[in-house]
Amino acid sequence: MIRVAVLGATGQTGTRVVQQALDAGHAVKALVRSPEKMSIKHERLQIEKVNIFDTSSMLPHFKDTDAIVHCVGVNVQWNPTTLFSDSIKAIVEAMRGAQIKKIAILSLQLSDAKISEEFGWLMKWAFSLFFWFIKPITDDVVKMEHYLQGECDDLEWTAVKPVQLVNKPPSGKIIHHNEGQYLEGGQNWTISRGDVAKFMLQVVTSKDKEFANKLISMGTKD
Ligand SMILES: NC(=O)c1ccc[n+]([C@@H]2O[C@H](COP(=O)([O-])OP(=O)(O)OC[C@H]3O[C@@H](n4cnc5c(N)ncnc54)[C@H](OP(=O)(O)O)[C@@H]3O)[C@@H](O)[C@H]2O)c1
Repeated sequence: MIRVAVLGATGQTGTRVVQQALDAGHAVKALVRSPEKMSIKHERLQIEKVNIFDTSSMLPHFKDTDAIVHCVGVNVQWNPTTLFSDSIKAIVEAMRGAQIKKIAILSLQLSDAKISEEFGWLMKWAFSLFFWFIKPITDDVVKMEHYLQGECDDLEWTAVKPVQLVNKPPSGKIIHHNEGQYLEGGQNWTISRGDVAKFMLQVVTSKDKEFANKLISMGTKD
């Protein structure tokens, strides 16, 4: 049993992380901005309101916690965002204050990569359009990842980078993964949020450091 705090616990992936962690017997803190949205109730679940941009708001709740799962996300938008790059600094400072080492963070694929030369022209065009569309988010995710890579060697962080998400439970399929900005060979694959939640929990509960301080792209074969 570990004590895990989940940021973004009201979201579609965060809810699955909370439920799977409870099912596995862990003690869970759901640290959210809207406690009234939490649908899960459990004797091992504590629900607290926090501001993810404010270290002092999170620090008291990070104490007596072994690991963080960070599932905060944002919808496609036109305006620049600093959601990921600003909040990660406050989260990391709160982790240091509470002496927590492990964090799994839901990130994005291809956020910083060139579009694969293996793609045909139609795929390249479609990907270019898609990544132009989500650029306000990917730019900020890149900043977050650079911060983790440049300034967080004292932690065991893992940026989890799924292919296209589908809202389903764990599939039971093999979760393919590799280090880097995209899953090699997985450009047309999807992955269920249940599988992503399972992988993120595996990362923070595992004693080995296989995924520590890495960008891990992942997906399941359809
Ligand atoms: N869609 C895809 O195919 C895909 C693929 C790869 C990666 N991703 C990543 O996955 C994320 C989506 O995951 P999801 O579908 O589980 O997300 P989601 O259901 O949209 O949930 C987002 C969570 O983030 C929280 N949140 C958003 N802004 C916040 C803020 N300013 N302060 C505190 N909490 C905030 C939300 O809280 P409230 O409930 O209070 O709003 C919610 O708990 C995307 O943003 C992207 O980064 C998506």
